[in-house]
Amino acid sequence: MSSVQTAPIQRMKPTLVRRAAYPPPRWAAFQPCTYAKRIPVDVFVSKPDVALHDAFLQMLDDYDVHDPENGGDYAAARSDFVAYVQRLHDDERGFVGLVPCSHRWLVSLQGAVVGVVRVRHKIHTDFLANEVGHIGYDVPPSHRGPGFGVAALKAGLERARELGLERVLLYADTDNPASWHTIERCGGVLEAERYSQHYHCLVRRYWITIPQT
Ligand SMILES: CC(C)(COP(=O)(O)OP(=O)(O)OC[C@H]1O[C@@H](n2cnc3c(N)ncnc32)[C@H](O)[C@@H]1OP(=O)(O)O)[C@@H](O)C(=O)NCCC(=O)NCCS
Repeated sequence: MSSVQTAPIQRMKPTLVRRAAYPPPRWAAFQPCTYAKRIPVDVFVSKPDVALHDAFLQMLDDYDVHDPENGGDYAAARSDFVAYVQRLHDDERGFVGLVPCSHRWLVSLQGAVVGVVRVRHKIHTDFLANEVGHIGYDVPPSHRGPGFGVAALKAGLERARELGLERVLLYADTDNPASWHTIERCGGVLEAERYSQHYHCLVRRYWITIPQT
């Protein structure tokens, strides 16, 4: 077994341990997400964890069937899940990409992985600032709609707050209203809309100010 870090973000509330349909996971941290207006979405927010192997691969099956294009980024998890999780932890520590990037997984009370969010700790290159931004998020196709997208972004904003970021930059394709609605639901302020030379489409550029508590 690898030396994957599994320290919890916070301790889970005991009342929710009893409500959960699966054994209390050692990795989980309950963060109530009250931001979705349609239903309150209760999810656990976890660091990538090898204990979530089956749930993560079920998410990949969902992408394979319903949205292979957006599932492609997770395909490496299939061949060696332990190495994949380790790589995400290494990414957070700054050993993988251009900048350190924190990864968090949203897990439903039924134990399904219902969202993924990535938070780049800084965006100091032209490419990151002009094309990518701080935060990216995805919800597997079968779980879209009831508020997990907003919950995923909120989890990312919480991580940004922990990192000391005062505001974050996000991009959404103009033809992806689910994405920019999610940003706007989380307080995003549209700064500009322009054509991306890299992605060859119209994109919207938003800022979200992080509440400092
Ligand atoms: C973008 C994405 C994360 C949204 O996830 P979701 O779980 O459907 O989002 P939510 O249920 O939290 O809804 C968030 C907002 O988007 C709106 N929305 C959701 N699907 C929509 C759609 N197909 N068209 C228009 N608006 C939509 C919701 O109504 C809600 O806005 P509102 O509260 O103002 O009504 C999801 O569609 C996804 O993973 N898409 C593929 C990957 C992607 O585009 N990622 C974002 C780029 S980084």
